[in-house]
Amino acid sequence: MINIAVLVSGRGTNLQAIINAIKKGRIEGEIKIVISDNPNAYALKRAKKANIEVQVLPYKKYPNKEEYEKSILEYLENFKIDLLVLAGYMRLLGPKVVKKYPYRIINIHPSLLPAFPGLEAQRQAIEYGVKISGCTVHFVDEGLDSGPIILQKAVKVRPSDDEESLSKRILKYEHKLLPQAIQLFAECKFEIINNKVFIK
Ligand code: GRF
Repeated sequence: MINIAVLVSGRGTNLQAIINAIKKGRIEGEIKIVISDNPNAYALKRAKKANIEVQVLPYKKYPNKEEYEKSILEYLENFKIDLLVLAGYMRLLGPKVVKKYPYRIINIHPSLLPAFPGLEAQRQAIEYGVKISGCTVHFVDEGLDSGPIILQKAVKVRPSDDEESLSKRILKYEHKLLPQAIQLFAECKFEIINNKVFIK
């Protein structure tokens, strides 16, 4: 059983997917805390409904990013967190947190990385005109959506797609991929060689 913390900023459908997977016994772990930088994140309601402890850390109330992330680190330490999951967390994690949790922070991103990192990945994909996009779960390093890739799922882009329809189709697969990657982590079913992830 691993101790999980989830960082969120918004609606929290990926958080919900993790909660559901734990309930169904598909993840051998427990969410100890959900932390949000946004007091209005709907994800907080989802966590409370599932009786998970929540913590709001409003970014603007801190003098700088370092102080803000110090608070995050305190929670991770207090709850003896094994895995930090970024599920729709809209900030770049600073080096202190990343260095303290090497290969223990994962992120879900709605494109086939390294294509279309950053914000509005689905819009970027539509604008570029790619025929295939998808989603990626990766370990977090100090770069933007740049850490070692754990799992990816390809999703076809239809000629009729706009940002909304593509986002919706990709999201369905995000909800499968993220819990799957968390369970791989829980079972230690991977090896990292030369910064590449090999699933055992
Ligand atoms: C997802 O598309 C995720 O890939 C991206 O942000 C979105 C969060 O959605 N990082 P939700 O808050 O989990 O519903």
